[in-house]
Amino acid sequence: MAHRRIQPLTVEMPATIIAPSLLAGDFARLKEECEYMLECGAGWLHMDVMDGHFVPNLTFGAPVVKAVRKHLPQAFLDCHLMVTNPEQWVDDFKNAGASQITFHWEAMDSVHECRALIKRIKESGMRAGVAIRPKTEINEDIISILSEVNMILIMTVEPGFGGQKFMGDCLTKGQQVRSLRKDLDIQVDGGIGPGETVTLCAQMGANVIVSGSAVFNAASPKDAIHAMAKAVDAHSTM
Ligand code: DX5
Ligand code: ZN
Repeated sequence: MAHRRIQPLTVEMPATIIAPSLLAGDFARLKEECEYMLECGAGWLHMDVMDGHFVPNLTFGAPVVKAVRKHLPQAFLDCHLMVTNPEQWVDDFKNAGASQITFHWEAMDSVHECRALIKRIKESGMRAGVAIRPKTEINEDIISILSEVNMILIMTVEPGFGGQKFMGDCLTKGQQVRSLRKDLDIQVDGGIGPGETVTLCAQMGANVIVSGSAVFNAASPKDAIHAMAKAVDAHSTM
């Protein structure tokens, strides 16, 4: 007799992850900053790659990811690519040891290209994320790729710089995505820290929190990370 697989009645919310953005750290001591963040309870290390074209700022590329990977073989390196033509860099980031590539929806010409890129990133052994700028609304095309990505990143500032003011309005998009996909990682990035901002993000369905200035400038980065994790956990178990 064939056994029918028993389906769970509830879909579990994805795990809480706090991802400090290294952009707010001291680049001259990058290895130590990464180690310190992991000791303080960071789940992922968020690495902001900017090309001076998609955004009006320059940071670093795959060689820096490779240097970090060499010292931290186990760390989850969450690479946020704020670049034009992200497809150009997939092999370099794979060879550098990136764990996940998040590219921008606005950098793509069509949903078909987007699909092909997601497929290529995943076939390279990395997780694939798609990021949307504050002004980008969730449309049918974005909804159609939610089952293909591992994560959606909802920007809560205009990408390009750390230390900007949190834009809470963007979070209705988090709520919209969460109502469609209970199991998807929803990341938020920009102007987030312990207190009101992270609580709002958690209420609106986010489970992966990027935080730069608020963690690195905190008197205790460890306390800041733990406070944010607690705020997200409180919502995912409600
Ligand atoms: C902005 C970057 C963010 C930024 C976050 O373009 O994507 O990751 O570093 O920094 P804070 O938390 O300082 O806004
Ligand atoms: Zn980022």
